[in-house]
Amino acid sequence: MGRKSLSIMGLSCIHGIRYLVKRILLIFERLLWLALLIASIYFCIVVSLSSVDRYYTKSTHIGLERNYHFWNTTLPSLTLCPMERLNQSFLDKFCMANGIEGRDKAEFEDFLENLANSTYTNFHRIPQYQSTDDILERLNIRPENYMELIYNMTYDSSYDPIEKQRTRSIDGQTNIHVRQVLTEYGLCYLGNSKLGEEYSSRYFIFGLYPEFNRHEHTRKLLQVQIGSFFEKDVGYTLLGLRSEAIDSFIHSPFDVMKVDNNFGYTDDGVVYDPESQEVIAEENFEKEATIAQRKCRFYHESNLTHFKFYTRNICQQECRINLAYKICKCIPHFYPNRIATPKQVCSYKTLKTCFPQYTSLFLKLYGDQNSPIKRATCYCEQTCLDAVVTTKSALPMRGSRQLLGSIGSAISMKTWPQNRLKRQVIFTFTDLLVSIGSTAGLFLGFSVLGLVELIYFFTIRLICQILGFKI
Ligand SMILES: *[C@@H]1O[C@H](CO)[C@@H](O)[C@H](O)[C@H]1NC(C)=O
Ligand SMILES: *[C@@H]1O[C@H](CO)[C@@H](O)[C@H](O)[C@H]1NC(C)=O
Ligand SMILES: *[C@@H]1O[C@H](CO)[C@@H](O)[C@H](O)[C@H]1NC(C)=O
Ligand SMILES: *[C@@H]1O[C@H](CO)[C@@H](O)[C@H](O)[C@H]1NC(C)=O
Ligand SMILES: *[C@@H]1O[C@H](CO)[C@@H](O)[C@H](O)[C@H]1NC(C)=O
Repeated sequence: MGRKSLSIMGLSCIHGIRYLVKRILLIFERLLWLALLIASIYFCIVVSLSSVDRYYTKSTHIGLERNYHFWNTTLPSLTLCPMERLNQSFLDKFCMANGIEGRDKAEFEDFLENLANSTYTNFHRIPQYQSTDDILERLNIRPENYMELIYNMTYDSSYDPIEKQRTRSIDGQTNIHVRQVLTEYGLCYLGNSKLGEEYSSRYFIFGLYPEFNRHEHTRKLLQVQIGSFFEKDVGYTLLGLRSEAIDSFIHSPFDVMKVDNNFGYTDDGVVYDPESQEVIAEENFEKEATIAQRKCRFYHESNLTHFKFYTRNICQQECRINLAYKICKCIPHFYPNRIATPKQVCSYKTLKTCFPQYTSLFLKLYGDQNSPIKRATCYCEQTCLDAVVTTKSALPMRGSRQLLGSIGSAISMKTWPQNRLKRQVIFTFTDLLVSIGSTAGLFLGFSVLGLVELIYFFTIRLICQILGFKI
């Protein structure tokens, strides 16, 4: 470089550089300026990197909102599982068509009913009969067909044309949408849910959305029941299950039920009084932060293999699928398995032999002292929009069965949340640019115009000079 370009650098935007090239300074002074320059660049980089780190790992937070007068709160969901699963007339028809009679029929029905009613806690109760093995063999019913067979033998009572017998969810003269869902506890009914129609038995088993239910539309139909601070008592009743007993699950309207979090076997209706604290997100939250930054996923951001949507409990179900596949080399029949390489489905014998010894490992996803695996190796992000539901009281509806002719449960919300959590972005990409820019400005006196100047001198001016043009 000639003297000219050196003097150009003397005008440079980075302040210390000019002293390095001034000819009259002593070598000692030059070294001093060089050291200062290096130190400044070093600190500039360190501080900028910490801004980058902040952008990637601490750019969102959860704040607390308290202006509760104006909130609309979605009531918790109710999942009810009938404890008698199969419809006798479907069973009769099936047995007639396939020539199953007498004791064989009774044994086959007992087997199928228990299979339909099975979950991690009661796999050991599935009975084993020689006659049933022969029937399964003869009709070529393999484990992959268990769920479809159970579905075929189950009556979806939410489509019953007679109102009194229909499984429905009501609040006075308003209907609230109910659908049959496939859970880890078999086929159940879900009311008051914010989840899409992908969460339904038909979609899980056949990949088809549920059929249009015209009976629900005979009155005003709500997807979910919403209440606010000024209302005293808001609720709904999910009723019309024709079973001796039911098992109830109360959970967030943004998530699915957890099989180990139930209210147990009840043979009469129950009124629950829950409390709900919602977790909401700022409007721009989804766009302004990536999944890794916000550490949560929205419903449609699934990266799961067996499920097309994401919620935290669904992710844990997938953990269970993977754990079962690892330990027992197959998965229970009540999981959706319509994927590119379907996993082996467990025969009822494997369900009886392999699963009962690991019940707590499967349910809690971490094992006790003598389990072979201490912890399931999976990580489930939270659902971005969620609600924390706790139940304050559960009062039995005495005599409701006589009154309604069926069994059901009700939610009645009397207190409204006074806090809610809001996910927010506090350090956006613009903030990152400003932060790095001002760090560079602080340590080096750097500016964008200065940078342009520098590039200009080093490219256009230099080329012109080399080519011998005079500017
Ligand atoms: C709450 O719900 C009412 C009626 O359902 C609606 O008019 C109102 O706009 C909602 N408020 C908010 C903040 O969403
Ligand atoms: C279904 O399972 C539950 C819980 O294990 C049990 O209490 C109930 O009796 C079973 N239902 C039938 C019809 O066996
Ligand atoms: C069984 O299914 C039939 C429809 O085929 C229905 O009419 C009947 O009510 C169902 N029985 C029960 C107990 O749900
Ligand atoms: C269930 O019913 C459908 C339609 O009636 C039939 O095509 C299918 O083969 C049945 N599945 C089993 C396992 O019986
Ligand atoms: C889904 O993403 C999370 C991290 O966001 C990761 O830990 C997990 O392994 C992913 N799951 C699958 C099935 O790819």
